[in-house]
Amino acid sequence: MDERFVHHPAMSKPQAEPSLQTGWRSDILQTDFDANLQNRKCGMAVYQHDVIVVGAGLAGMRAALEAQRYGANVAVVSKVYPTRSHSAAAQGGINAAMSEDDSWESHAFDTAKGSDYLADQDAVEVLCREAPENILELDHMGVVFNRKENGKLAQRPFGGAGFARTCYVADITGQAILHVVWEQLVRAALTAYEEWFVTSLVVEDGRCRGVIAMEMRTGQLHLIEGKAVVLATGGLGRVYQPSTNGLICTGDGMALGYRAGAALMDMEFTQFHPTTLYPSGILITEGARGEGGYLLNSKGDRFMGKYAPTRFELASRDVVSRAEQTEIDNGLGVNGCVLLDLRHLGRELIMTRLYQIYELAHDLANVDLLTEPVPVRPGMHYQMGGVKTDVDGRATLPGLYAAGECACVSVHGANRLGGNSLLETIVFGKRAGRAAAQDLKDVGPLPPMSTSVLQDEERRIKALVGRPDKGIRAAEVRSDLGTSMKELVGIYRTGDQLSQAVETTRGLQEKYKSVSVQNKGSVFNTDLISVLELQSLLDLGETMVAGAMARKESRGSHSRRDFPERDDVNWMKHTLAFYTPDGPRLDYAPVKFTRWQPEKRTY
Ligand code: FUM
Repeated sequence: MDERFVHHPAMSKPQAEPSLQTGWRSDILQTDFDANLQNRKCGMAVYQHDVIVVGAGLAGMRAALEAQRYGANVAVVSKVYPTRSHSAAAQGGINAAMSEDDSWESHAFDTAKGSDYLADQDAVEVLCREAPENILELDHMGVVFNRKENGKLAQRPFGGAGFARTCYVADITGQAILHVVWEQLVRAALTAYEEWFVTSLVVEDGRCRGVIAMEMRTGQLHLIEGKAVVLATGGLGRVYQPSTNGLICTGDGMALGYRAGAALMDMEFTQFHPTTLYPSGILITEGARGEGGYLLNSKGDRFMGKYAPTRFELASRDVVSRAEQTEIDNGLGVNGCVLLDLRHLGRELIMTRLYQIYELAHDLANVDLLTEPVPVRPGMHYQMGGVKTDVDGRATLPGLYAAGECACVSVHGANRLGGNSLLETIVFGKRAGRAAAQDLKDVGPLPPMSTSVLQDEERRIKALVGRPDKGIRAAEVRSDLGTSMKELVGIYRTGDQLSQAVETTRGLQEKYKSVSVQNKGSVFNTDLISVLELQSLLDLGETMVAGAMARKESRGSHSRRDFPERDDVNWMKHTLAFYTPDGPRLDYAPVKFTRWQPEKRTY
């Protein structure tokens, strides 16, 4: 029997740092592959681990490393190679109160205020209190953060923050951190199932017991048994079109959890980033405004003074995006955009701290940021909602955990501050990994799993592939969903638009039943994967629309023209969404306050 199948005994305390081992792909995966072949000869492919982490971006890798440090036999399952995860796209930085003149309490206050007071303040306190030690840990791992002349970490101002507390690596912060944490994963020699797509969670006797995953190279389905599963698959940006999110951001983990019975929380809160390129939707970092960039309307006015007289371009994202949209709606835009002007920052700053966006503007918009402003507009960027968890990543389904954008812990409430998402991946990825490993102490021997789950899933996928060839293409439904979400569930929403969106998403769910998989092959069948991803996008789109329709107030990123005020009396509560075959069932949960009472939010 493969030694990975043996339960790891030490669950109670961290082990010594894992020794340096090599062979991330060649040794580990070859072993998996050989075992797999053996299993297949017996007609069954089963793998066993203590903790299965789904997703290999920053939250997933951080969770995996920590679960292993606490003694668990860990596997990471990812539909893409880890360094291709979307964490690599985060540009501007990661927040922490590192300076003596700053404090975690001040960071926490800014975060709670930025959330329009919907964030759970116990979680916000954890995020901000643990931020500095996590930055130092990354620094010690080898992240080459920008530094000041005196050698201390450089920090730039970001929106909604009362202090310059965003640590950064030029404008490639996510990529820099991702690669360094990945090096740690290689060093830890964890088992990795790369380019394996999880098709469902396995729940038996009310506990999440593993996943069924498709090995994309062969099309083979496998049962990976675990005692705990951590979802860390990132966001769902591709519910919208366009989005700053990569094509892989299809909300897989949120949808897996939702369909398995876990609660999703606050799905109506979608962040529109103020500066995305037209028409691709590619991100132009908030760091550009942090470094001093201006937003101008068609008259050349720095219009943010009207909307945020003290913070201008560095108000929180919901405020800046609404201001831009208002200027555009009032005929003061430039071809549906506003202008981001960096010329006054000078060549040296742009070429050293903002070089990636210099290249993006040049290559994708034909604009030389040194000599001309670039047209930008608000675009879908981030999902504040996700799988509801406690501060240790525990979802509402026993055995299931979640972290990162996939989760809603909730530290962002109705609007996230820039620089807090990378931080969330690290702080809560680590906590979720630790809890998943430690909680195993209390899990007695689990009964053998039923072998029929794999066969049932094989039948389901076979039926999908077997649909008539001439059906509707997944891309068409995906495009209809993305466009209708952009038009009906945008920066500003109305009851009429939202009821239309309810109809549209339900209609697209019906249409999904006729979507066909035209590629009948088994090797890297990306057609099949896109049909499976589409199911997630549709399920999640429905929860976003239902939550938005129900919430009759304006709070953070959820701006209802028909209910323009925040209503703390009736709506200071989280929205929960539970799966039913007929669409989401909503419920509500209280918001946790520790020290900051809701105030009117101005910048
Ligand atoms: O604008 C940015 O660089 C994005 C940062 C973030 O979403 O945290």
